Amino acid sequence: MSAEPNPSPVEERVQALLAQMTLEEKVGQMTQIDFSVVSVANGQDAENPVDQAKLDDAIFNHHVGSILNTPTTPNNRAQPIEKWRNITQRIRDTAARSRLKIPVIYGIDAIHGATYTQNSVLFPQAISMAATFNPELSFKEGEIVAREVKASGLDWNFSPVMDIGRQPLWPRLWETYGEDVHLAQTLGGAFIKGHQGEDMAAADKAPTCLKHYVGYSYPLNGKDRTPAWIGERALREWFLPGFEAGVLAGAPSVMINSAEVDGIPGHANYHYLTEILRGELGFKGFTVSDWEDIIRLHTRDKLAASPREAVKMAVMAGVDMSMVPFNFSFYDLLLDLAKSGEVPVSRIDEAVARILRVKFQTGLFERTEPALPVAGYFATAEAVEVNRQAAREAIVLAKNDNRMLPLSKTASILVTGPTANLLSVMNGGWTITWQGASEELYPKQYPTLLQAIQRKTSGQVTFVGGQRFSDEINIEQAVNEARKHDVVVLALGEKTYTETEGNIDSLALDPVQLQLARAIFEIGKPVVLVTFGGRPRIITEIADKARAVVLGFLPGMEGGAALADILFGDVNPSGKLPISYPRVVNDITPYDHKPIEAYETNQYRPLYPFGHGLSYTHFETSGLLVKPAQIKAGDSVEVSVRVKNTGTRTGKETVLVYLNDIAASVSRPVKQLKAFEKVELQPGEQKTLHFTLTAQAMSFIGLNMRRVVEPGDFKVMVGDESVPFSVLPN
Ligand code: NOJ
Repeated sequence: MSAEPNPSPVEERVQALLAQMTLEEKVGQMTQIDFSVVSVANGQDAENPVDQAKLDDAIFNHHVGSILNTPTTPNNRAQPIEKWRNITQRIRDTAARSRLKIPVIYGIDAIHGATYTQNSVLFPQAISMAATFNPELSFKEGEIVAREVKASGLDWNFSPVMDIGRQPLWPRLWETYGEDVHLAQTLGGAFIKGHQGEDMAAADKAPTCLKHYVGYSYPLNGKDRTPAWIGERALREWFLPGFEAGVLAGAPSVMINSAEVDGIPGHANYHYLTEILRGELGFKGFTVSDWEDIIRLHTRDKLAASPREAVKMAVMAGVDMSMVPFNFSFYDLLLDLAKSGEVPVSRIDEAVARILRVKFQTGLFERTEPALPVAGYFATAEAVEVNRQAAREAIVLAKNDNRMLPLSKTASILVTGPTANLLSVMNGGWTITWQGASEELYPKQYPTLLQAIQRKTSGQVTFVGGQRFSDEINIEQAVNEARKHDVVVLALGEKTYTETEGNIDSLALDPVQLQLARAIFEIGKPVVLVTFGGRPRIITEIADKARAVVLGFLPGMEGGAALADILFGDVNPSGKLPISYPRVVNDITPYDHKPIEAYETNQYRPLYPFGHGLSYTHFETSGLLVKPAQIKAGDSVEVSVRVKNTGTRTGKETVLVYLNDIAASVSRPVKQLKAFEKVELQPGEQKTLHFTLTAQAMSFIGLNMRRVVEPGDFKVMVGDESVPFSVLPN
C-alpha cells in the first residue's frame, strides 16, 4: 500500500496500528458476530445478558471487530437503556483489555429511531419521511436518532436505506424514500448529515451505513432477496445515485445487497463493490456484508463450491467485514486463506485499514464509557415534538370530496377496521422487535388512531374491531353501528413486516377488508378511508366510494395523534406521495416512465400520481420562468415560479420542479423531479421560489455508459406550466 504524501493524524494512527497487528488480529477486525454469540442463554431476560467467558473468547481469541443486534436473535426485542449501557460498557471494558486495545464497533438497526432501546423516539419510516418532502425534518430526525443511539451506548447505525423503491410488492418498499432518485438523495443525504454532523467523533453523532448496495430493491418478482435484472444504464441512472449522494454526504460504511443483479450476487460483485463503489464513487469507508451472505454464496447461490471459496470470493470482490453472524467460521476460513496466500495480506490490510479508519474517525478509541448521558439526550420533549411534526407532514390527504374533512368535533363516529386500534400498523418492522408486530410491547403512552380520535372529540365514538390485526371483525355489528353514527372512519391496510416475512403474491387488499368495506358502503353513510402500511395495497374500489381518503403509510409512534389532528382540522395536511399509487395490481408504472410506457394503449394511470397530496387550502403556481433560454452544455439554468395560497387557511405546499430532455440518444423519462421546496403560506400570501438546474440535472447515462448532457431542447415543468430551454451544440 503506498503511503500518502502528507498522512493525516488519523491515517498515521491507522498505519501505526496496522503495523503492530498480527494476521489473526487483522482477520478478527473483519469479523462481525451477532450478540447471541457472546450472550448467556435467553439473554433477553437476563439482568446481565453478557456471558463474559464467551465475550473473552470473541475478543481475545478471535479479535472480533464488531458486534451487532440485540439479545436474542431472532426473537430479539428492545432493551431498557440502562441495560444497553451496561452491555456495551462490558464490551468496551473487555476490548480495552485486549493486546492492542482496539475497540469493538457495535452496530444496530436504528431504522426510524433507536429501534431496540425501550421508549426511544420512533419516527415515521423512510417512505413516510419522504412524503413530508421536508429535508429539514429528515436532518433533525438524523440528529435525534444519532443522539439516542449514542445515549444507548451504541456506536453505529445500519441506516439509511438508499435503495430506490420502484417495485411496490417488495416487502421493504417502506424502508426506502420512494420511487424518485432526487427525493431519495435529498432526504437520505439530509438524514446522514444530521446523524453524523461535521465530526463523527462528536459525542452526539454516529456513523451511518448505506443499504443495500446495490439493486436490492428491484426484484423482478417482488419477493425479498430474489434476482433483479438491472442493466448497467438503469443501474447508473436509478439505483446508484442514492448511494452516490450517501457517499458525498459522508457515510463511512455500506451494507451489501443480499440478493443478486444480472446473475451476480451482491457479495461477489467485484465490478459493483470495487470498480464502481471505490473507483468511481470514491468511497473510502468500509463495506459490511448483510446477514450470513458470504456463506450463502455457497449454501444458496451455488457460486462457490465451498464455504472457503465463498469467503475468498467475497473478500476479493470487495467485502471488508463479514456479518457472519453466529460463529467464527469466517475468521477461521479467512485466516487459512491468508496463510496459504490465496487471499493476499495486502487485501486484508486494505480492509482492516478501512475499518480502523472509521473507528478512529468516530472517536471509538477515546471512548471509555457511553458517549452521552441519558438525561437530556434520550426521548426529550424536543425530540418528541419533532417526531410529531414529522408525522403530521408525512400523512397524505389523497381525496376530500365536498370538503368531507375536517370532521366536526361533535360528529358521532364509528371507527372500524383492522388498523384502527394498533400502534404496530403505524410503525412497521424494526420497531421494538425485528418484525415490529409485538403490540403488547409497545409503549402505552402513544395513542392508536382510535384513541387519538376519542381524545379529540366530544361526539360519540364507537369502535368495532379486534385487538390484533388478524382478529375477525364482526361485519354485521359494524354495519349496525354505522347506521347509528354520522360518519365512518374505516381504517384498513397492512400488518407489519419486513424482509422475507413480508413477501406477498399480489398488491390486492386482503379480501376480508374488502368485504367489510363493501358492507359499510351498502348503507350509504359517509366514509373516511384511512390506510396504514408499507406498500400501496389496491384500494381503488373503496377509495372511489369513500368521501375522503387519507394515506398514512407508516407515520411512526405519533401517527395516531397526527392523523387525528388532520381528521379534525387541527393540522392542515401537507404530505405528498413519494410513489405512484397503483390503481390495479400489476400496473406499477412509475411517474418517471419512458414515453413508450404511455404510448398508444399504454398509460400512466395510477390511482394517485407521484407528488399527489391535498391540503385544506388551495395553492396555485404561476409565472414559471427559465433563464437563459439557451445555454452551453455544462451550464445551469435558473428557474423561478410563484406559489400562492388562494384558499382560506395557512398551509404548506411543496413545489415540484420537473425536467424533460425532449430528444436524446437514449430514451428519456417523460419527466424527472430535479428540485423541490416546501413553503408555508398564509391565506393570500405568495412567494417566488428560485431553483438552479445544473448540468448534472440535465445529464443522463449516454450510449457509452457515461453521464452526458446532450445538446437539444429541454422542458421545465411546474404545475400546469412548462417552459423550454435549449442546450446549444458546442
Ligand atoms: C438483514 C437486513 O437485510 C439488513 O437491512 C440489516 O441491517 C441486517 N439484517 C442486520 O440486522
